[in-house]
This record gives sequence, C-alpha cells and structure tokens, in this order.
Amino acid sequence: MTGLDIRVEALEMVYDVDGEQVHALRGVDLAVAAGESVALLGPSGSGKSSMMTLLAGLQKPTSGRALIGGQDVTAMTERQLLALRSRDVGVVVQGPARNLLPYANAEDNVRFAQRAVPRDRRDRLRPPVELLEELGLGHVRRSRLGALSGGEQQRLSLAVGLAGAPGVLLADEPTSQLDAVNRSHVVDMLVSAAAGGTTIVVITHDEHMASQVDRAIHLRDGELVP
Ligand SMILES: Nc1ncnc2c1ncn2[C@@H]1O[C@H](COP(=O)(O)OP(=O)(O)O)[C@@H](O)[C@H]1O
Ligand SMILES: [Mg+2]
Repeated sequence: MTGLDIRVEALEMVYDVDGEQVHALRGVDLAVAAGESVALLGPSGSGKSSMMTLLAGLQKPTSGRALIGGQDVTAMTERQLLALRSRDVGVVVQGPARNLLPYANAEDNVRFAQRAVPRDRRDRLRPPVELLEELGLGHVRRSRLGALSGGEQQRLSLAVGLAGAPGVLLADEPTSQLDAVNRSHVVDMLVSAAAGGTTIVVITHDEHMASQVDRAIHLRDGELVP
C-alpha cells in the first residue's frame, strides 16, 4: 500500500459541556504528504485527540473538513467510514482496550483486522504471529484481552492498527503505558511502517518517538503552533 495524503482545512471542534462551549480546535489547517510521518505534540487538553478522532471519522467537526487520499471523511456515511477504516486507515485510539475484541485472543484480533483488506493487497499483509513477535507478544498470542496487561493490550492495539498494511496510521499515545524496551519496539514498528510507505500521524509525549519521524507539529489550545 502506498501512503495516502491527509489534508485538514479550517477544522473546528466545539463541544457543548453543560451549556458551556469548549473550543477544542480553533480552525486548524494541515497537510501531511503521502508517506510522511508526523508526531503531533502538545499539552493535555490542547486538542490532539479531537484532531485524531476527526481524522478517523469517529466524530464530525463543528466546521471545516478533513480529507484522506482526497476523500472528505467529514462528509462520509458510517458505512463509508467503516470501509475506510477496515481497508485504508488504521486507527489506534487512546485507551488500548477500546481497539480490541474482548472475546478473541491476541492473534485473532490481528487476523480480524486483516479480514477486509482487498485481494490485490493481501500479499502485503504480514502473518499475525510475526507482527506479535516483533512487539514482544509472541508468548501471549493465544491469550484473551483479560489476561493481558495494559502494556500488552497497548502493543496489541498497534499490531491491530497496522495489521491491514494501511495507507494511513493514526495512533493516539501508543506508548503511554510502556517501559523503555517496549517503547522502542513500538517506535521501530512505526518507523518500518513509514519506510513501507504508510503515512503516519502519531500523538505522543515521547521525545524518542518524536525524533524518529519526519516532522513534529505542535498544538496549543486548539491551534497549531507555527
Ligand atoms: N467528548 C468530549 N466532550 C466534551 N469535551 C471534550 C470532549 N473531548 C475533548 N473535550 C475537551 O476538548 C479539549 C481538547 O481535548 P482533547 O482533544 O482530548 O485534547 P488532548 O488529546 O490534547 O488532551 C479539552 O478541553 C477537553 O476537555
Ligand atoms: Mg488526548
């Protein structure tokens, strides 16, 4: 899969919290080239997760657009978004368990994430066990979610996000629960996905991760820092 480009145009997100307006994004413009890897940095509450969930089509913006591979995800139906996420856009949201099927074992979670990949791209898919081993999860491949630690669930979420060799990977703090060794497994896997052409947007507080991507961008109070 060659990477897909991302374009964000005047993206605004305002939440209504008990009648109070919370401005999470105040008109963000951003272009990420196909195959580029970007770290999205910024203090807690600066709008990073809002930006990512909007890119993933998990919620609709107040105004503005977000395009992936030229397609406006903010205008897509749920069905179109499901197809996009199962074929072209790997998503790892904050909170590892939310990315995983609770009743399937680790290996089946990865296999399930590969089910919708079109036939002509299946030769690019990596065997689930190989992905798991690279993340230090080989020994728990037959374990269900409940038997995995938070850090194991977090690494499994990344394996699931990359399982379909997506054109874009969106990952929200994928190393927040990991020790140094496992953080470096995750960084290595992102770097190799980027080398394979996947466009990456990763939210992180990890300096090492930020140093391994093509570009770091900073959000502050809902705006990109120039
Ligand atoms: N679902 C939501 N409902 C109400 N407010 C939200 C919601 N999600 C985020 N916010 C608010 O929007 C702002 C940005 O949050 P978020 O996008 O999660 O930032 P970050 O990921 O950088 O911490 C914060 O003030 C947060 O409280
Ligand atoms: Mg966040």
